[in-house]
Amino acid sequence: MAKSTASFVCQNCGASYTKWAGRCDACGEWNTIAEEAARETAPKGLGGKPGRKIAFVDLKTEGVPPPRRTTGIGELDRVCGGGLVAGSAILVGGDPGIGKSTLMLQASGVLAGKASVAYITGEEAIDQVRLRADRLGLSKANVQLAAATNVRDIIASLETGTPPDVVVIDSIQTMFVDSIESAPGTVTQVRTCAHELIRVAKRRGFTLFLVGHVTKEGTLAGPRVLEHMVDTVLYFEGDRGHQFRILRAVKNRFGPTDEIGVFEMTDVGLAEVLNPSALFLAERRGNVSGSCVFAGLEGTRPVLVEIQALVAPSALGTPRRAVVGWDMARLNMVIAVLEARCGVAFTGHDLYLNVAGGLRIQEPAADLAVAAALVSALSGDPVPADAVVFGEIGLSGEVRAVAQRDLRLKEAAKLGFKQAWAPRSAKKADASGHNKPDDTKTGLTIKSMGHVQDVVSHFTDPAAPKATPPQGGKAGPSKMRGP
Ligand code: TYD
Ligand code: MG
Repeated sequence: MAKSTASFVCQNCGASYTKWAGRCDACGEWNTIAEEAARETAPKGLGGKPGRKIAFVDLKTEGVPPPRRTTGIGELDRVCGGGLVAGSAILVGGDPGIGKSTLMLQASGVLAGKASVAYITGEEAIDQVRLRADRLGLSKANVQLAAATNVRDIIASLETGTPPDVVVIDSIQTMFVDSIESAPGTVTQVRTCAHELIRVAKRRGFTLFLVGHVTKEGTLAGPRVLEHMVDTVLYFEGDRGHQFRILRAVKNRFGPTDEIGVFEMTDVGLAEVLNPSALFLAERRGNVSGSCVFAGLEGTRPVLVEIQALVAPSALGTPRRAVVGWDMARLNMVIAVLEARCGVAFTGHDLYLNVAGGLRIQEPAADLAVAAALVSALSGDPVPADAVVFGEIGLSGEVRAVAQRDLRLKEAAKLGFKQAWAPRSAKKADASGHNKPDDTKTGLTIKSMGHVQDVVSHFTDPAAPKATPPQGGKAGPSKMRGP
């Protein structure tokens, strides 16, 4: 007889263990391992029973590929790679309360005008969804609404009659398969439910949206355990303190990843943000030290954001370093390069770095902007208010070229910036590295940065006295030291 053993499964990544541990070795999360009834025992093999022959077909498509269905929400279509593909499964992950249900309901409402949409909620009662739809101005939309959690019933309904074009499951963690003992939300349940639903979606050709909560506690399986099963993974990010929400594609079998959609949470639901740069820079105050505008790139779209740094004398033995919206390891690297290659000393200073507006930057191209913000904060000199900065910094202090330079410059010019601190563009630079003919067409003055020192020397040396020059010393503040 097969032995039923208990197994311990990480609810974040799905790794399984024979005994409990405080930390999952696979994903590094703490306190996410929970006991689950083991679903299968030792593999049995095929047992000598013959199978059926599978049919092979040609790779080339017959006729044109089926068109993508656009949702009507441009930002959502963009992250999906230009619209929804029939028979595909899209996972929408995010923290609770970030706006996943709102987005799905809005998408359903807009789609309902041109396709049949079924919205199955396991979290809210029908009336709650209706109330929300009313608030979003969608109460007249032709969406088929159901409150259900049993996957057997849901599949039975989707198998009979004409299937809907789009099905939304909100959320996958509330669904359950009645043949499995573990509670809804466990890795086994979440995986099995998703697997069954995806199979029906592929067979019947509807687009399936699965909503999944990202959870830090070990009580609910996170969307990470589903990433390999679905065709597209979208994460809805943002700080609940900010009104901006970013929908980011992290996996897409039918389009590019790293594409983002920007939304603003308003009292009547999510509004698309067509010009994110203008929004992220809206509250910027020019000529403040420690502030610097980074010309970034999110997917195919240039996005300008403000990077803010604060450097303050520290009373602590080990100065504090805090970062919001960027990578701490990357920040430490930039600090180390500034200290070792340019002689800028941050010792004895607390250091804070913030990406304004709640955006999370992942590009190394932000290195130079971070360096400029840090040195500006330390020296007290502002980065020119009409300048954008971008470039990757290498360990020897060299500034490396980054992708899509022209796109970044064009966006900066569009928003009224006058100069750019940018890496030398390798193939277009003349001998001096300045005045590349292609840069003039954007109207920006390009200050080519070959080394971080080029940035540092724009600021006065904080070590030199500024307000009260020493007796008899007429010289102005010295420039920052060289390497
Ligand atoms: P919700 O979509 O329920 O989040 P999730 O499904 O990801 O858990 O979003 C809930 C939040 O959105 C809640 O804090 C209120 C806010 N909200 C608005 O600000 N405006 C609106 O029109 C709606 C519907 C929600
Ligand atoms: Mg919800």
